Amino acid sequence: MLPFASCLPGSLLLWALLLLLLGAASPQDSEEPDSYTECTDGYEWDPDSQHCRDVNECLTIPEACKGEMKCINHYGGYLCLPRSAAVINDLHGEGPPPPVPPAQHPNPCPSGYEPDEQESCVDVDECAQALHDCRPSQQCHNLPGSYQCTCPDGYRKIGPECVDIDECRYRYCQHRCVNLPGSFRCQCEPGFQLGPNNRSCVDVNECDMGAPCEQRCFNSYGTFLCRCHQGYELHRDGFSCSDIDECSYSSYLCQYRCVNEPGRFSCHCPQGYQLLATRLCQDIDECESGAHQCSEAQTCVNFYGGYRCVDTNRCVEPYVQVSDNRCLCPASNPLCREQPSSIVHRYMSITSERSVPADVFQIQATSVYPGAYNAFQIRAGNSQGDFYIRQINNVSAMLVLARPVTGPREYVLDLEMVTMNSLMSYRASSVLRLTVFVGAYTF
Ligand SMILES: *[C@@H]1O[C@H](CO)[C@@H](O)[C@H](O)[C@H]1NC(C)=O
Ligand SMILES: *[C@@H]1O[C@H](CO)[C@@H](O)[C@H](O)[C@H]1NC(C)=O
Repeated sequence: MLPFASCLPGSLLLWALLLLLLGAASPQDSEEPDSYTECTDGYEWDPDSQHCRDVNECLTIPEACKGEMKCINHYGGYLCLPRSAAVINDLHGEGPPPPVPPAQHPNPCPSGYEPDEQESCVDVDECAQALHDCRPSQQCHNLPGSYQCTCPDGYRKIGPECVDIDECRYRYCQHRCVNLPGSFRCQCEPGFQLGPNNRSCVDVNECDMGAPCEQRCFNSYGTFLCRCHQGYELHRDGFSCSDIDECSYSSYLCQYRCVNEPGRFSCHCPQGYQLLATRLCQDIDECESGAHQCSEAQTCVNFYGGYRCVDTNRCVEPYVQVSDNRCLCPASNPLCREQPSSIVHRYMSITSERSVPADVFQIQATSVYPGAYNAFQIRAGNSQGDFYIRQINNVSAMLVLARPVTGPREYVLDLEMVTMNSLMSYRASSVLRLTVFVGAYTF
């Protein structure tokens, strides 16, 4: 037996191939019953062993190989090889022999483990020691005795590589989805924020989060609205509020003067008036309210916008006072012969710019004699003709304002009443001294 055949079992395959080509029987074929004494080519019967025995052709055939070729015997045949040929020991028949592993103690541990200093087997971390063949897109996981290549979260294995999963295709987000390498993120439309599950969107209460409303804020789904307090209007920017100038809207808001204030307005009245029902001005009766400065000897006379203190005794010689309002000229006094027998003081007030003609004062005769006739006239104080008398009947007449007058102004009119009785040849004259205060305003 040739040494190479026994020490290099890897070459047996080649030999088997060559044997087939040469039409030789396999060694197994020799395991035949005793009756077989005929052997195939290259074998001869060996009666001792009762087996077909290989013939060494290199010895039996002269010049089995010619020239520089050397003869190599083998089962059932022989080979001629160049003398320089190395002994064949691999399938490819070429290349250097495999490197011989460096001399070391043989690894007594199972695959994936290695002995430590105490000679016990510990797991080899193939991932840490770069002993794995995971792709760059893959993650290496060490396992006891081995390792595993897996895709990171959010990646999926397609072929050999890990590919990002587009989670946005699966409608995870209520509003908007942004795919990221290995993950995704949900986003919400303006006015919303991510809910606790990071997927749904919940309304943001902008009012609680510093919405820029100047005055009032109303949250609504996805947005907010600014509103203003009464008396303010929302600016075009939608946030700020500006005061409404109510006074500019209408001149009828206030009877006298409108004053705009932040968020509101107020009506003001001139001196001597008080506000009535927020917009009207009402004359203050200083005489009634006691707000006057009149003395004991004076009588307080109220008029539109003010008052007057008049002396209670207004009688001038030869007249003598007979009551608060009345002065008499005694018939016994010769100076009284051509004078009205009495002068009665009256006071009244009218507002400015009354529409005319306007009845302002009615005169009524007090002493009525049967068949008497009373005539009325304006004896003094009407030089402009602002008033006239309209006789109503024998005992009364009306003072009429003929022209619109504007105050503040004051008339002192002597209204004379002449009483006549033709039967008794009686004629008497009395005067009503009427002071007319015209207020400065139409109210
Ligand atoms: C939502 O995202 C935040 C920030 O990224 C994270 O801390 C939280 O755990 C996430 N919540 C859920 C339910 O995923
Ligand atoms: C008014 O005076 C006239 C003329 O003197 C007289 O005729 C008439 O009766 C008087 N009327 C009254 C109601 O006194």
